[in-house]
Amino acid sequence: MAQTTLFSREEIVKRVAEMGQQISADFAGREMIALCVLKGAVFFCTDLVRNISLDVALDFIQVSSYGNQKYSSGVVTILKEPQLDMHGKAVLIIEDIIDSGLSMREVFRYIESRGASMVRTATFLDKPAARKVPFSADYVGFSIEPQFVIGYGLDYAEKYRNIPEVQVLSE
Ligand code: IMP
Ligand code: MG
Repeated sequence: MAQTTLFSREEIVKRVAEMGQQISADFAGREMIALCVLKGAVFFCTDLVRNISLDVALDFIQVSSYGNQKYSSGVVTILKEPQLDMHGKAVLIIEDIIDSGLSMREVFRYIESRGASMVRTATFLDKPAARKVPFSADYVGFSIEPQFVIGYGLDYAEKYRNIPEVQVLSE
């Protein structure tokens, strides 16, 4: 397996700070919940919320993942539900990467059904060319080609999440 750098730590820090500023402006005056999609988005989420200059509650949701495959099974189930009451809250769903769009579509629908007054989505990475269902995030860190990436929370079979930069994984 070859690993080549796609985004350095410096590029990531700069982009996440910009996203935090924009989100702070857009969510000003609302009761905000940052909802981190486990597990991959943990790294992005903790950096992002530290760049949000508002009071923000934190919660977690987990949906079924790829298992050890590089490709989605297409079936999404909720493994861990959020704990906070979402009624009347402005929820920012925070994801590591959007690929087919299936996971985010499911999480978005689920959170809307819990009575949030506003639901927005932030993804660190986006692979728009890989969609199986239409979905566009409100905040995108970087758009990339449909290639398999690791690091900064992104795994391959649970490995590589702790690499501080984003790398392309190829055979
Ligand atoms: P989707 O449901 O196909 O949009 O997939 C979203 C989930 O698949 C993400 O939350 C990741 O966990 C995983 N995923 C998709 N592409 C990659 C990748 O390139 N590297 C690591 N994980 C990925
Ligand atoms: Mg994953």
